[in-house]
Amino acid sequence: MTNLAALDFSAWVSAKQAHIEVTLARTLPAVSITPNTLHEAMRYSALAGGKRVRALLCYAAAEMCDTPILIADAAASAVELIHAYSLVHDDMPCMDDDDLRRGKPSCHKQYDDATALLVGDALQSLAFQVLSEPELTLNTNLQAHQQISLLNILAKASGSTGMAGGQAIDLASVGKPLTQAELEAMHNLKTGALIKAAVLLGAVCGSSAQITAVSTYAANIGLAFQVVDDILDVEADTATLGKTAGKDANSNKPTYVTILGLDLAKQHAQQLYEDAIAAIAPFDDNTQRLRELAAFIMQRSF
Ligand code: IPE
Ligand code: IPE
Ligand code: MG
Ligand code: MG
Ligand code: MG
Repeated sequence: MTNLAALDFSAWVSAKQAHIEVTLARTLPAVSITPNTLHEAMRYSALAGGKRVRALLCYAAAEMCDTPILIADAAASAVELIHAYSLVHDDMPCMDDDDLRRGKPSCHKQYDDATALLVGDALQSLAFQVLSEPELTLNTNLQAHQQISLLNILAKASGSTGMAGGQAIDLASVGKPLTQAELEAMHNLKTGALIKAAVLLGAVCGSSAQITAVSTYAANIGLAFQVVDDILDVEADTATLGKTAGKDANSNKPTYVTILGLDLAKQHAQQLYEDAIAAIAPFDDNTQRLRELAAFIMQRSF
């Protein structure tokens, strides 16, 4: 068996990416199951693509807090399924109207709008199904009340006071000159909430001091993630991104770049990164992966 703690960061990332891919592939219904096209489209959008940053954050928090792998797998899968659903809907003509996702035609381009809508719905339900499986408390030391709290964290992070709410504010903000505080609130909901949930789910077996520390880490790195996404939309090219570059400006979206300019947006992301690292500094022995992931989020090129 591989000793994960001894792996260098890129080997750890590759191992975990391969692991979540296999786990998701096993979880998603086979194409041979009716309705075949819906299941094919769910697999099309949820597999073979994506950096899996949320899963990686979940596994890193689980390693820090000794959360059993069975629970970390369910949590990482659930968060990646919600994320995949959010991207499918985000790309639809009624939202960002984006034809390219993860280097392939977006779900509604490959299939059609109704299928994309249902893919999102079904991926979301599957996320909660995975996290509510009875095996999670039967075969581990997770208590039933802890499992309910995992479901509660994910539900809040996904719904109208989390990701979906942030998406609503994003759409309502087109063409509007938001203040930095308004922009931050929007980004915290549309992207930060799910990233924070990924970390908190992974940390379910941690002490209250560990959970408090990773919660601050996650809030900072979750916001930094979207600030970097705004910067990449301006600086990266479509081929590297695997999604349409320059889309925010073309769609008149307020972003950290339009509000602060590129240089200040970069400085702001750097400050958020430093605050994230400072929050987990008291637990330095167990936070190597979380620290490496924070740097990875800052340095990513797509
Ligand atoms: C893109 O997320 C959408 C945002 C919330 C900014 P990612 O950059 O994590 O997308 P994938 O999963 O790697 O494709
Ligand atoms: C998406 O934000 C946030 C989601 C909840 C999906 P963006 O609209 O900036 O994401 P990309 O750039 O299309 O991946
Ligand atoms: Mg969007
Ligand atoms: Mg978009
Ligand atoms: Mg974007």
